Amino acid sequence: MKKSDIYRLLMAGAILVVLLNTWMAWRSLSKLFTTQGWLSQTLDVLSHTESLALNMRTADSAVRGYILTGSPAFEKQYHASSQGVYAEIDEVQRLTADSESQQQRIAYLRTRVAAKMGTLDSANALRSGNSSAGPIEPNLLEPLLTDYPGGGQSVAYAISQIEAEEHRLLIERTRETKNASKEVWISFIAVSLLDILLIAAAFEQLVRAHRSHLQIAEDAASIEALNNELTRVNTELEGRVEERTQELAESNQELEAFSYSVSHDLRAPLRTIDGFSLALMEDFSDKLNDEGLDYIARIRNGVQRMGMLIDSLLQLSRVTRSEVHRERVDISQLAKLVFDELTASDHDRAIVFVAQPGVLAQADPRLVRIALENLIGNAWKFTSRTPEGRIEFGSDVREGRTVYFIRDNGAGFDMQYVDRLFTAFQRLHGDRDFKGSGIGLATVSRIIRRHQGSIWAESELGNGATFFFTLAA
Ligand SMILES: Nc1ncnc2c1ncn2[C@@H]1O[C@H](COP(=O)(O)OP(=O)(O)OP(=O)(O)O)[C@@H](O)[C@H]1O
Ligand SMILES: [Mg+2]
Repeated sequence: MKKSDIYRLLMAGAILVVLLNTWMAWRSLSKLFTTQGWLSQTLDVLSHTESLALNMRTADSAVRGYILTGSPAFEKQYHASSQGVYAEIDEVQRLTADSESQQQRIAYLRTRVAAKMGTLDSANALRSGNSSAGPIEPNLLEPLLTDYPGGGQSVAYAISQIEAEEHRLLIERTRETKNASKEVWISFIAVSLLDILLIAAAFEQLVRAHRSHLQIAEDAASIEALNNELTRVNTELEGRVEERTQELAESNQELEAFSYSVSHDLRAPLRTIDGFSLALMEDFSDKLNDEGLDYIARIRNGVQRMGMLIDSLLQLSRVTRSEVHRERVDISQLAKLVFDELTASDHDRAIVFVAQPGVLAQADPRLVRIALENLIGNAWKFTSRTPEGRIEFGSDVREGRTVYFIRDNGAGFDMQYVDRLFTAFQRLHGDRDFKGSGIGLATVSRIIRRHQGSIWAESELGNGATFFFTLAA
């Protein structure tokens, strides 16, 4: 699981806990409000029962006052109070509608009040009936004013029963209210603590995010600085490489020019030596003994060898200097031409040449011809001691590239020296066995390189050799 997913999960969990806690706080609060409602209702009931008792006492004393004085003010007071009594009973009944037991007590209270009011009404009527006969003897009225008319408990007792129940409820509800408010406090503290924790966690995350943001910005800045430094060093290096390449190209050109002019200039004195040694041999042969003639023959041999060497060097130099002009070349045909020329120069050789027909390439025909002259020339030379000499030319496709090859069944060479083959003046065979200057393959290698191709060889001493090359176009 990813780090961001874990954070999201934790956040969702925290929000859930907060919601749960809020719900619990809301529940305790609503419980508190309910119990508070109940409490105030109980207090209401109690205040109305008080008022009921007061009205009852007032009615009682008003009747007594009226009996004693006959004053209509007392009678009026009596009526007002008795009305008040009934109004309060109605109110108490309404307020305790939810309690069956209180309703029963109120019903009983009503019967007690009705009985008491009945006696009070009768006393009142008696007094008003005797208004002209003067004050009535109070003792006669006493039974009428008793608090227990018709047997049973007094009104005060009935009220006290209701009040006792309300007091019990009061205690109970006060306890409930206290509990509810305690719950509210606990919920409030829990929610607050949780909120503080959440805010702290969120703050911590924020600080961390800010820090990593700063770190990223710092890293980006240092990466950019490194990048700039790298670009600067790169540019400097590129400049240096260009400079060195230029210097190298110049010195190469100088070297080429030098070797060309040396080779070229060497030819004139060589021609002189060649010409005069020939003249010496022809014109003065009768004056020279055999030893002298042998010396002259050796001089001429060396001169011819040197001429060949110079020619090879000149060719190598020309190959490097000349431009490459690519065009469609039929290499099979060119190979055949080279082979025919070699046969023309040496009719005695019985050798088989097999060329795969129609092998084409996009290359410089003049340069390819020089390369083939050297490769087929080598094959021709190194099969000179093989009884049934055979030279083969063909092409193959390897890893999407066309690979050309020239194979022979001649002397071959030891593969451990294969790296030396394409370096100038490196020969793997002695001059006695096979003549040569060791420049041919160096020339071929340059031609191939100028075509962006590559050249390599495979061989086994005494078992012929195969030279492969490509000509990237
Ligand atoms: N077909 C081949 N079979 C065996 N050895 C070869 C063959 N071709 C080249 N070599 C070896 O590679 C050496 C270098 O070849 P390279 O053509 O450069 O020189 P060379 O033929 O000796 O002289 P040059 O070609 O300059 O007259 C040869 O001397 C020979 O030892
Ligand atoms: Mg050669």
